[in-house]
Amino acid sequence: QEDALKKVVAHAKEYGFVFPSSELYDGLSAIYDYGQNGVELKNNLKQYWWKAMVQLNDNITGIDSAIFMHPTIWKASGHVDAFNDPLIDNKDSKKRFRADVLVEDFAEKFEEKAKKEIEKAKKRFGEDFDQEQFESTHPKVLEYRKQKQEILDRLAKTLETDLSKTKELIEELGIGDPETGSKNWTEVRQFNLMFGTKLGSTADTATDLYLRPETAQGIFVNYLNVQKTGRKKLPFGIAQIGKAFRNEIVARQFIFRMREFEQMEMQFFVAPGSELSFFEEWKNKRLNWHLALGLGKENYRFHDHEKLAHYANAATDIEFQFPFGFKELEGIHSRTDFDLSAHEKFSGKKIQYFDPELNKNYVPYVVETSVGLDRLFLAVLSNSYNEESLEDGTSRTVLALPPAIAPTKLAIFPLVKKDGLPEYAQKIFNDLKYDYNVMYEDKDAIGKRYRRQDAIGTPYCITVDHDTLKDNTVTIRDRDTMTQERVSVDSLRELIDPKVNM
Ligand code: GAP
Repeated sequence: QEDALKKVVAHAKEYGFVFPSSELYDGLSAIYDYGQNGVELKNNLKQYWWKAMVQLNDNITGIDSAIFMHPTIWKASGHVDAFNDPLIDNKDSKKRFRADVLVEDFAEKFEEKAKKEIEKAKKRFGEDFDQEQFESTHPKVLEYRKQKQEILDRLAKTLETDLSKTKELIEELGIGDPETGSKNWTEVRQFNLMFGTKLGSTADTATDLYLRPETAQGIFVNYLNVQKTGRKKLPFGIAQIGKAFRNEIVARQFIFRMREFEQMEMQFFVAPGSELSFFEEWKNKRLNWHLALGLGKENYRFHDHEKLAHYANAATDIEFQFPFGFKELEGIHSRTDFDLSAHEKFSGKKIQYFDPELNKNYVPYVVETSVGLDRLFLAVLSNSYNEESLEDGTSRTVLALPPAIAPTKLAIFPLVKKDGLPEYAQKIFNDLKYDYNVMYEDKDAIGKRYRRQDAIGTPYCITVDHDTLKDNTVTIRDRDTMTQERVSVDSLRELIDPKVNM
């Protein structure tokens, strides 16, 4: 599993998808830059989301609000008081940890033990193995899973009630620093995840600001602006794509947990009482959107929250099977009127909707969908990465990206750099570049050029050879099947379009 992630990280760097930020200065932890291919893939993912949310829904519009916002907004939203993670330091190694993650990782060891039992049995029974039956009856598997669950339940209780109890739990379980084993811990304390900065030039007039930890609040404080100027009737939604910042204590798993990341969020404003049916509707719509990417139905699952945040009356995660297991990709929350009412209270201004059918005013309820763009990027990248052994004994690395989001749609190669082939290839390039992101390549042997395009996920390669000059046909090679076909230059657009368009 770890190896699978390592390979993806190495590939992402080697082929210009993701670089560690400030690498020249040895990097900055949990901050990443997107390279020449990464930015194209990321832009395509944004467009794919924006199209599905804003363009295809006539009752959803987009905005782009500022990262800096009035500091009272974060008071109202609860982030100043409650956007905390429990932090613990190891006195010997001087390393800092999230107390809950330490315990969760410890609990996960029991899951690993259960998995080992299952694997053993799988080998033993071969084809006759009924995994579901085994998991639900085998005493060791049941015991390991019970122990895991007990630890997680106890953890949840201590986090809710008393952080000194979290420390006691860590001590009782005998958890040490994962690297050094030292069990010399400090107390557990709350750590606020918002980054602070200052607005203004002189020390005494400067105001403390925060970098936004979610884009959602930019939507809430613009609710009235959009509703009034857009003459919107409930239900309607506001969507936004933008950066968010969180001073995460543990930063690991590549771009899964970053300190600067991007969210794609949509707040759907509805009449009180109708929120739970919209919640169900958006759960299904969002899952279907993910499934349409074609990464495989078996890689998604819902994780309904039993413990709800103070503002929510229903919440679920769409989890994806990353190289390190099923983890949250998107959150869908029924946030009630918590945020808008809080902004009414803190701003002293009315945020009401006049419902012409009910003939009354009220604060709308909100159903939110929130997906991390970088997590989506990682889901797509890790799922598409394949090392294939070919029939001729060689191997290749291919990114089997959904063609619609591939950074480059089409690469055009002249077979040799002479006899007018480059000129002909350039002509095709110039003809298609207005419609697709096309790449022209004339370096190295054709085989090598194919491999390079496979590695960045280009769905099609086109080769111009000497016959092209005679009959205006080219070979088109398919990334996934590697088959080559002779087609007329005039038919290229017709062939490619249905596959690569969103
Ligand atoms: N407005 C709701 C909200 O922000 P969240 O569950 O805290 O909810 C939503 O975040 C999504 O943002 C997550 O499902 C995840 O995809 C992404 N996300 C959150 N923290 C992240 C981080 N540190 N790095 C990358 N993505 C993150």
